[in-house]
Parts: sequence; C-alpha cells; structure tokens
Amino acid sequence: MKNALLGLAFCAAMPLFAQQKATVAIHPAEGKQVINKEIYGQFAEHLGTCIYGGLWVGEDSPIPNVKGYRTDVFEALKKLKVPVLRWPGGCFADEYHWMDGIGPREKRPKMVNNNWGGTVEDNSFGTHEFLNLCEMLGCEPYISGNVGSGTVEELAKWVEYMTSEQGSPMAKLRKENGREKPWKVKYLGVGNESWGCGGNMLPEYYADLYRRYQTYCRNYDGNQLFKIASGASDYDYRWTEVLMQKAGNLMNGLSLHYYTVPGWTGSKGSATKFTTEDYYWTMGKCREIEDVVKRHIAIMDKYDPEKRVGLMVDEWGTWWDEEPGTIPGHLYQQNTLRDAFVASLTLDIFHKYTDRIKMTNIAQVANVLQAMILTKDDKMVLTPTYHVFEMYNVHQDATYLPLDLQCERKIVRDDRIVPLVSATASRDKAGVIHISLSNIDLEESQDITLTLDDVKAKSVTGRILTANRIDDYNSFDNPDVVTPKTFTGAKITKNGLQINLPAKSIVVLEVK
Ligand code: AHR
Repeated sequence: MKNALLGLAFCAAMPLFAQQKATVAIHPAEGKQVINKEIYGQFAEHLGTCIYGGLWVGEDSPIPNVKGYRTDVFEALKKLKVPVLRWPGGCFADEYHWMDGIGPREKRPKMVNNNWGGTVEDNSFGTHEFLNLCEMLGCEPYISGNVGSGTVEELAKWVEYMTSEQGSPMAKLRKENGREKPWKVKYLGVGNESWGCGGNMLPEYYADLYRRYQTYCRNYDGNQLFKIASGASDYDYRWTEVLMQKAGNLMNGLSLHYYTVPGWTGSKGSATKFTTEDYYWTMGKCREIEDVVKRHIAIMDKYDPEKRVGLMVDEWGTWWDEEPGTIPGHLYQQNTLRDAFVASLTLDIFHKYTDRIKMTNIAQVANVLQAMILTKDDKMVLTPTYHVFEMYNVHQDATYLPLDLQCERKIVRDDRIVPLVSATASRDKAGVIHISLSNIDLEESQDITLTLDDVKAKSVTGRILTANRIDDYNSFDNPDVVTPKTFTGAKITKNGLQINLPAKSIVVLEVK
C-alpha cells in the first residue's frame, strides 16, 4: 500500500511531454545468472487446431509437409529456436491414455475431447509423432502425464516406453512400433492443474499422489527425468506452501499458471477490438505476474533456500474471447501488437527471476490463445508474439545483466501502477550484449539515456517491432502488418547509448 501511494504521488507530479525521458543503467560486471533457454518454451495441446492443422497434417495431405508435419510451420519453429515443447496438455493430458496413440494409425481408437468442444480425437498424433517432432526441432520434450484419470502403472509404463533401451516389455513394444532407440525425455509433468481440470484435488491429497506417482517414474539407461509437480494457479499461495512442505524434496520443479485474462466468467473481451483503457489494463495485469512470482518464490525459498526446485510457469499468455465464427471451445484468437507487449513485458520479468524460474511455456504454439502461428488450410501467418520470441531469442542461455530503470508510470484500471518502459539485458557467450526495450506508451516516444558502467560500446544495431495502431495484427490476407524492421534510433555516447524509442514499440539492440 505504501508503494502504491508513493507511485500515485510520483505520477501526479510528473508533467507530460511530447517526448518522455527515461534512464536505464545496466551493470554488466554484476551478471551471474544464466537465462535458462527453456524460459522460451512452447506448449502444444490437443485443443482446437493446435495439433491437427497447426503442426500436423499427415503424410497424405496436399498441404506441403515433412513426414506429416507442416513444412511452413516447422520452418518457422526452427527459426524461433524452440528450446522445449510441452504436450499433450493442459487439461487434455489428464484424460489422455498414451497407449491409444501408438501403433498403426488406422487402428488407433478414437476418443472425445471432453475439455475442448467435444471434438473427436483420432489419436493419429501420439507419442512417436510428438517425440520425433522434438528431435527434428532439436528441442527438449516436456511430457505432461495423466494423474487425474490415469493409473500409476500407466504413467510408469509410458516413461519406460519412451526411455528404456532394451529388455523391458515397453521397449519391446516401442521397437515393434518402429522405433529402435529410446528417445531422451527430460521434463515430466506429474499431472496438470490438479486443483481443477486435472482432478479437482486439495493440495494435501495431490501432494501425496505426486509422491506416489513420481516414485515409479524411473530413470532408464542414462535418461534423467526432471520431475515437475502440478502447481498453483495465479494467487493460490497455499497450494505452493503445501506442495513445497509435503513433497518439495521429491520434485525438481513446481509449476505455476498465470493468464492475462480479464476474468474467468463472462466475456473476456475481443482480441482485436479494445479501448485504450483496456490496453493499459492489459499491461497492468500482465505485469502483475511479477508480484505473483515473487510471492511464490518467497514460499519456495522458505523450504528450498538453495533454489534446487525450479519454478516452471508452464502456462502463460493472453486469453481473449474466441474469434467470432470459430468453433466454441477451440480457443482460437487473433494476436495484435498488444499481445506482443504482453510477451515482451513478461519475458523481461522472467529474466529477472532466472535463478528460480527455470522454464516457462507460453500458451500455445499454434492456433490457440496467444499463439506464435495461425494457420488456415495451406496458409500460415506469424503473429506479433512470434516476432517478439524471435527477436528475443538472443537472450537464450545468455547471462542476465542486472539493470536499474527510471521512467514515468501510469495508474491504470484496478489501481495498478504501470511503468511505461520495460527493459532487459544479457551478454551472450561471444560477449555480445543484447538489450530489449519496450515503450508501452501509445502516444509519446521515450528519450532513453542508457549507461553500461565500464563497458564501452563500439557498435550498435537493432530491430524494432511496431505498427500504426496498437490493434494492428497479421491476417492471412495481410501477413506483414506487424513485422520487425531495422532500427536506427540508438547512438553511441561516452557512457553508453542514447535511444529514441518510438511510441508503442519493442526494440532489441545488439551492442558490441
Ligand atoms: O491452455 C488452455 C488451458 O488452460 C489448459 O488446457 C489448462 O491447463 C488451462 O486451464
């Protein structure tokens, strides 16, 4: 409350100029933590057209494909440097029985996708199709196991099927299905949203189930599982407390879900038609994830001061009303420059807590919620959010550089106080510094004085993502409305850089 009052006083005292001033002081010598590349993780659920039509069309499709995976989507994901892909859910995971998705495709049983529109699922995309895709993309698979409606035996056998080399019944079955060598599977989720669609459990009950299920998920033949317990939603700090207290010693990670959503009942608002006030509210709501992760981290610190257990934000992003005319329950939404800001601001926050946040997975990779990619028949568009992930991928596995930022702030609906500038910086293995800056102000540019302590910049180049309007988006007819362009607004000074950051823009600078 004290901070809120200070914020109010600060804002009220600030006059508004045509161009605002901000300072960013980066401290390269203080960089210690590596930004785990898995913070740039993706999520693919059997939901709407994420898998079928989005990633997978099958070998016989007229849509160009590589072994059944859409060529255009595959190439776009390669460029994104996807480090980890979570599958098969989400809520779907706790109704998924993996044995239905192996063997000859024409013999696989069908099921009804009860969570997502009652669509018939033919199981043609199963374990082999998913793990082979991860191998082709060069990313880690993150398997979300069924605890809600599956047995311990079923989950244990799935791990055996995927990762045991030979001699086991499941390795034999895998070989009969055409895969000789096991896959490497590192990340294993033991249930999803176990407080809700994953079984409506209480934390004490789930903590016991977690302990039991994880016991039988073995490390076979050099494969080392990283076991992730199903974590809290948003502000449910008690869930984290109970899980850490009762099962913290048996987990490698604990998940957290946080959506930038205007509320779970009634309309969530249109993805493309929103007011200026809605826009600034969205910035406030997405930034609130910082307070939320801080509070979950404080609880984790109490039980795990060495920070052995990772906080895995394995679902995040915007959640708007489904696009008119699309199938209810398929969560198909458009994606504007507003969504791009949610991505950049949230990634900036994740970088700050990289000593505890080891993975995050935006929801979702294609055609669902805050998607990277939208497809329609043989057409594909890259969303503004895709472009943020592509521009930001220079931060993957780079050393996080702490910084101090001073800028003007705005009070938005629900009394949140929102800084108008967001920034993050890192140094990669070659010594190159990358600085990402977002100016969320819709009208004013920012005159940014940036210092780098003892580092002397010799060259600076950059790219910018912006558009004429905040509600601009890429459509199948106009796919390049919001795309990155060369940025020339940064100049080298004696102590660092002077940057002119246009209104509503996201810039990534490369400093050598
Ligand atoms: O991402 C969509 C859904 O949101 C997931 O299936 C579920 O885990 C969450 O509620």
